[in-house]
Amino acid sequence: MKVFINKIIPSKGLELLEEAGIAYTMWKEKPVLDREQAIYFCKGHDAFISAGQSGLNADFFAQCSHLKVVALHSVGFDGVDIAAATKQGIPIGNTPNVLNRATAETALLLMLTVARKALYLHKKIQKGEWGVAQPTEDLGFDMVGKTLGVVGLGRIGAELARMCKQSWNMEILYHNRSRNEQAERDLGARKVSMEELLSQSDVVSVHTALTSETKGMFGKKEFELMKPTGIFINTSRGGVHDEQALIQALEKGEIWGAGLDVTNPEPMQPGNPLLEMENAVVFPHIGSSTVETRAEMARCAAENIIAGLKGERLPYPVNPEVYDR
Ligand code: DGY
Repeated sequence: MKVFINKIIPSKGLELLEEAGIAYTMWKEKPVLDREQAIYFCKGHDAFISAGQSGLNADFFAQCSHLKVVALHSVGFDGVDIAAATKQGIPIGNTPNVLNRATAETALLLMLTVARKALYLHKKIQKGEWGVAQPTEDLGFDMVGKTLGVVGLGRIGAELARMCKQSWNMEILYHNRSRNEQAERDLGARKVSMEELLSQSDVVSVHTALTSETKGMFGKKEFELMKPTGIFINTSRGGVHDEQALIQALEKGEIWGAGLDVTNPEPMQPGNPLLEMENAVVFPHIGSSTVETRAEMARCAAENIIAGLKGERLPYPVNPEVYDR
């Protein structure tokens, strides 16, 4: 049994595969593989660990219907045609929970960086502009006692809410389809309408998956509803916000700042106006990129592969319905 791995993953995952007697081929080059190349390699293997491979669509799964399991090296699976994989009988696994904390910390880092204009001020030093600051110049905002609005209070959103509650006693509002009773109990979180969340929150943080319902859900109208002192944070998927509408909202001062770990498309191109704005901070999708978290993600991926190749149910399945076939 052989598994193909499309990028360099942490050794923790590789060791688990080796212990289980599973051989692997790992693509170590840059640029990364395109879809056709990935198909070519998958055809010579029994399983696939995909770290952000693009083009995992119906045609991919039709051409690679021999795969016994595909393990995503991510929690998100918005780029994968899960229904097509299920149709071909291929179990898909992901890496849930292990990146909650690192991603929530990324949102927190963006919040503080934007709120204190830290990146902008750092750039001023680089330009030799660290002069005499007036006591009223370049001021940021405190977080203590402010309101956090979480759109998508799942595992990552709840982790951020917990940190904000514990650190600054922030009030927590959330907007979800279903109630998060534990967050209501533990953090005093209140489920509110989207309009209320946007108009009442000092920081709006997005943690929803990218679906046909959430695509572009932050546009002109939503930014207009936010406070002029409000900060927009997105660590979920770039497709959830409309970038042009965000740029305009920042330019017009309809919102105070924005912090993005995700963009649409990725990578963001160097000339993007957001990169030059005083009140915007962009990270290159680093939500899960800590040594510890990536090692755990590799573990989950390897465990999914080992189970899948044994014909067992994956420990972290995305399409459990594949077993009902
Ligand atoms: C995920 O796992 O979906 C993250 O966005 C990747 O860092």
